[in-house]
Amino acid sequence: MRERFRVVGGARLVGEVPVVGAKNSALKLMAVALLARGRTTLTNMPAIVDVRIMAELLRRLGVIVDYDPEAGLVAIDVPETIGHRADYELVRALRASISVLGPLVARTGHADVAVPGGDAIGSRGLDLHASGLEALGAHVHVAHGYLVATAPRGLRGAEIRLDFPSVGATENILMAAVLARGRTVIENVAREPEIMDIAAMLESMGARIDGAGTGRIVVDGVDELRPTEHRVVPDRIAAGTWAFAAATTCGDIEVVGGVAEHLGVPLRALADSGCHVEATPRGFRVAVPSGVDRPAAFDVATLPYPGFPTDLQPFALTYNAVARGSAMVTENLFEARFRTVQELARLGADMQVDGHHVMTHGVRALSGAPVESSDIRSGAALVIAGLVADGYTLVSGVHHIDRGYPRFEVALRSLGADITREPDEDWYE
Ligand code: EPZ
Repeated sequence: MRERFRVVGGARLVGEVPVVGAKNSALKLMAVALLARGRTTLTNMPAIVDVRIMAELLRRLGVIVDYDPEAGLVAIDVPETIGHRADYELVRALRASISVLGPLVARTGHADVAVPGGDAIGSRGLDLHASGLEALGAHVHVAHGYLVATAPRGLRGAEIRLDFPSVGATENILMAAVLARGRTVIENVAREPEIMDIAAMLESMGARIDGAGTGRIVVDGVDELRPTEHRVVPDRIAAGTWAFAAATTCGDIEVVGGVAEHLGVPLRALADSGCHVEATPRGFRVAVPSGVDRPAAFDVATLPYPGFPTDLQPFALTYNAVARGSAMVTENLFEARFRTVQELARLGADMQVDGHHVMTHGVRALSGAPVESSDIRSGAALVIAGLVADGYTLVSGVHHIDRGYPRFEVALRSLGADITREPDEDWYE
């Protein structure tokens, strides 16, 4: 049954909210576990739908997975022999499952992973994943909707330069190179904190990696890895979501467990726009001082880390929709990531799309209406927009939001929001 959120406008969000492990690391760390026979445990895991899907994908590879969402714990028992096929049905539901490609070809010499196809935010190519594995000696081709990578005699080290610092390609190549013979040097890699988290886990399993977090990673392959225990890095996108929620509702939120250093550019922009931003012993705080009527709108250009994260772009649009003045939001990573704009327009926002730019003109208040989530971040941003809209807003497609935010409405209510989850009676299949 599809659900929606009923959001009543007018709340200033005030209080503290915890962030747990990052979805965009947790899912890959589960794939990393495939690289070593034995029991690996992950802690600080988020209680989200995507982890359930990834657990099911691993089970179908012959792995035992115990997931305790309440405790934030995943225990993964990897046998000597594992499967090599990641089913279309699961890959279609979870694009991140492409991250089993590297570990499977490195561990078994063979990987069949369904090609995930595009999604609401863009075409999402895989050419960099494929060319990286080919450089390591794998033979990669597409057959019957599957990306097939084979390396019957194992992988060998190589010099690889990425045309674009893709997060997913960096991760797959790194996870494959740790068991390749010899040295691999990967240039122009992604530098996201999630990459550093994956490298840290691999090193605790015995991998030899240098340079994670910089633009150049060097890996000296080893014959075997051992299981480990690893705590997932806090979710900087969830933390950034709460920062924008405080700024947009003129509230005051302490994000407990959030790492301010991982959000340098967005937090600086909020501070420069009139918000009070400070690190706290437990995380960081964002507040709109009482004397500030509406903080100022600001320009955004999404870039790979440490630039402004594309996953926070919908929140910047919602913030600018009610902020003081006009600004330009530019999306440089995904060609179709402006679906939030047409939904915000339904709430009375004044903004125009021009290619990969959006011109925003802040209005004093939005007015409540039914809107549709198209993906995780856009959905959550529309909920925040509902909080600053007169009357009530119905946000349908809650299943998108559940994929990335554990019990989003419960956390919002704890900050003073009036939001309920209800069956989506108006949804016609
Ligand atoms: C990861 O996606 C995240 N997903 C995304 O978060 C995030 O938006 C993205 O990184 C950028 O930060 C997960 O970690 C599960 P990319 P990923 O490879 O790995 C192109 C969210 O909301 N490209 O860095 O797919 C690609 O089409 C999600 O949590 C190629 O052309 O991102 C895109 O335009 C949404 N060929 C750009 O690079 C390739 O082989 C960035 O993609 C690979 C990528």
